[in-house]
Amino acid sequence: MRVLLTGATGFVGRKVRQVLEGRGYEVVGASRATGIDFRGMLADADWRAHLEGIEAVVNSVGIIVESADQRFDTLHHRAPGALFRACVSAGIRRVVQISALGASAGAPTGYLRSKHAGDEILRGLPLEGWVLRPSLVYGPEGRSTALFRRLASLPLIPLVGQGDQRIQPVHIDDLAAAVAICLETASESRTVDIVGPQAMTFAQWLQRLRVQTGRQETLTLPLPLSWLLALSRIGRHVAPLFHPDNLHMLQQGSTADPAPLAALLGRMPRHVP
Ligand SMILES: NC(=O)c1ccc[n+]([C@@H]2O[C@H](COP(=O)([O-])OP(=O)(O)OC[C@H]3O[C@@H](n4cnc5c(N)ncnc54)[C@H](OP(=O)(O)O)[C@@H]3O)[C@@H](O)[C@H]2O)c1
Repeated sequence: MRVLLTGATGFVGRKVRQVLEGRGYEVVGASRATGIDFRGMLADADWRAHLEGIEAVVNSVGIIVESADQRFDTLHHRAPGALFRACVSAGIRRVVQISALGASAGAPTGYLRSKHAGDEILRGLPLEGWVLRPSLVYGPEGRSTALFRRLASLPLIPLVGQGDQRIQPVHIDDLAAAVAICLETASESRTVDIVGPQAMTFAQWLQRLRVQTGRQETLTLPLPLSWLLALSRIGRHVAPLFHPDNLHMLQQGSTADPAPLAALLGRMPRHVP
């Protein structure tokens, strides 16, 4: 099967490509380097030439922070919306959209609201559209994993508040396996939360990352959310993940029932070691 994979150069896209190619798919990887820049692909017709000979589409383009020319509404809503509609015109039935856990119309951040807007377009089309909503995705090449590992390796682990925010990290291999299964499963449109088997606190997550590197658990340094929010107005320019919106999303927590993913995979998702 010939699959168009957008976001092919990203953390998720690279792993999805590897898994799909391992299963015999022909993957046509798209990114700005291959001339597919979402900012200029807002009309259905912009996608037509790129869909010739394509049998399924996986959309893994996303940004966690906006910049002057990279806007949530363009990248998460308008361009993928045009892509999904173009799939209908091109007779492509199966589309997998990588969204995000917590995406909803009333979500507290523009990131999650724009993800929801894109998801809604897919859900409304006559396609076998899969909306996969991952929580925090971790894996050796993940940018957030690297940042959290650095924090976890400090003598005192800095926490947002008391570090009691609930998260449910999911391994990149489980997300990529889910994408492949979706491409192989005839289905009505479905939305599946992609979460690990157990929820944990942010503090427990950092301690686990620390232990994974052969260190003992250590003391923590709770930092008031109000301080971090003030600091993040400058820090966001150094580390995009350190953006006020991302602190708010962490504070809100991100957990879900792992049963639907387990049913899709035919096994429980991986435990965090
Ligand atoms: N990682 C996580 O923990 C996590 C959790 C939940 C949801 N997600 C979602 O999963 C998806 C992939 O995330 P990721 O972690 O793989 O992100 P990533 O590593 O930052 O990759 C983002 C991808 O988007 C592409 N992209 C950015 N701007 C673009 C543009 N204007 N036109 C075309 N492509 C563009 C990038 O390609 P180039 O820059 O090479 O052009 C890259 O391939 C996103 O939708 C994200 O919201 C990720």
